[in-house]
Amino acid sequence: MLNMPLGEATFKDIRDYIYVNSGIYIADSKKYLIESRLSRILQEKKLQSFEEYLRMIKFSSNGDEHVRLFDAVTTNETYFFREPQQLTVFAEEILSTVLEQKKGVKKLRIWSAACSSGEEPYTLSMILLEKRVLPAKFEIYASDLSEGVLTSAKRAVYNSYSVRNIPEPYMKKYFTNSSQSFALHDSVKNSVNFMKVNLIDNKNMTSLRNMDVIFCRNVLIYFDTKAKQKVISNLYDSLNPGGYLFIGQSESLHNVTRALRPSVINKVIMYQKV
Ligand SMILES: C[S@@+](CC[C@H](N)C(=O)[O-])C[C@H]1O[C@@H](n2cnc3c(N)ncnc32)[C@H](O)[C@@H]1O
Repeated sequence: MLNMPLGEATFKDIRDYIYVNSGIYIADSKKYLIESRLSRILQEKKLQSFEEYLRMIKFSSNGDEHVRLFDAVTTNETYFFREPQQLTVFAEEILSTVLEQKKGVKKLRIWSAACSSGEEPYTLSMILLEKRVLPAKFEIYASDLSEGVLTSAKRAVYNSYSVRNIPEPYMKKYFTNSSQSFALHDSVKNSVNFMKVNLIDNKNMTSLRNMDVIFCRNVLIYFDTKAKQKVISNLYDSLNPGGYLFIGQSESLHNVTRALRPSVINKVIMYQKV
């Protein structure tokens, strides 16, 4: 399949459109990525040029084409028990503190923002269950911009790549293996509420408030400083006082916010709303 030619000006228009609507910044060096990923859609829709594609995106009232555009440009890489040092600090140090804040009365509220195909929120759910937090005592919300990944997340059937870091006892307890796929048990599957939320959309972001812990990992890297500031300010508003934010280990909030207080435990950085 040959790529359609993408002119400089149209590339910039498409890039700006993606940026304004998702916060994802596509560098000049990534033009080839837009060209190759979107060429497939153009051919399928029998469109003659990227200009025609852009017009269709801008003026279509049908949200499906936006969904396909974002699905084409986002990177959904994820797997269970990713960045395990953070998860250990969460389980061993932070969980008891936030549970204490709830005083056994209110439910613990956790949000996996930009959850991709669900491995992150399901990992958190298994950790809580293993820590004997009763399902009635916690709520896990998980969101993403891409409808494609949310559909996979709700299905909760994974391949061997996704499950490769899951400790054996968890594997035995929470998954059923048939040929090369691993189906998550309902006890975990039903503990996560999935929804479509665009982190860059202020209105969208008000739907999830009063969180005790937010995991927003490995998505800030796609945003520029301005978009990061907007997202982090929204996440700040979504946290309860005393709540914690975890970002990806290779990400930083340098020049992004002073409102959240960083702290370090066992080389893991987390941010608290004080
Ligand atoms: C690399 S995955 C990270 C998944 C998981 N948090 C992890 O660390 O393994 C990044 C996810 O961010 C989502 N994403 C990108 N821009 C977004 C936005 N503006 N709002 C919500 N999700 C977004 C993508 O669809 C993708 O699923």
